Amino acid sequence: MDGNRRWARARGLRAVSGHEAGKAVFMKFLDFYTDVRQRWGSRNYIFYAFSTENWNRPAEEVAAIMGVFTRAFDEFSSSLPHLLAAGIRIRFLGERTLFSPRLQTLMQKIEKDTERGASGTIALAVSYGGRADIVQAVNHFLKEAPGKPFTERDIGKMLWTADIPEPDLIIRPGGERRLSNFLTWQSVYSELAFTDTLWPDFTQEELERIFADYALRDRRHGK
Ligand code: FPP
Repeated sequence: MDGNRRWARARGLRAVSGHEAGKAVFMKFLDFYTDVRQRWGSRNYIFYAFSTENWNRPAEEVAAIMGVFTRAFDEFSSSLPHLLAAGIRIRFLGERTLFSPRLQTLMQKIEKDTERGASGTIALAVSYGGRADIVQAVNHFLKEAPGKPFTERDIGKMLWTADIPEPDLIIRPGGERRLSNFLTWQSVYSELAFTDTLWPDFTQEELERIFADYALRDRRHGK
């Protein structure tokens, strides 16, 4: 969800207003999720909300983003009836022990409250890094099966994304043409779509335009 700060700067606002606007677009996505799923069959999504590298931003901005997260997670709780009616399961991926106890409790609660969601999963990658994901997966495996050579399947089962399919499509808004440590293991055969739209300006219409373009692609998976 890239481009929040540039969106804010262009309006003479502080960075946090951009993150707040970004949060509002995510909340809107929860509202049109079912509509888009029914038309395109797109069940599972992973949103990159905060990277392992984002901790290195100025302390004031990190604190402001944590405030945005707290408000977002509180809103999840209050929109629980909508999430349950839509069958949405919410998951959080990343090094969550780095967050405040309050945020960790909120994440745990929303995961528990939505665990039966059977229509699809919406995951938020927070304090997430693709490399950190691989390292923690390998460490887990070494602990569970010391000395045993591991396979690709073994790693896949230990990743934070173990119960979410690998992405068919990765969309990056905000104009950059790179993945920036997102789903490093899982993205090897993902189709990529880049758009200059800053995340706070991203819409359902643009998502569906990108899906329409994706539908025309020939995916051979190396065959
Ligand atoms: C990247 O844009 C965005 C972030 C580091 C924070 C993302 C957070 C949100 C979108 C809030 C929504 C959160 C939830 C939990 C729904 P940037 O700051 O790098 O923008 P720039 O590229 O213009 O500098």
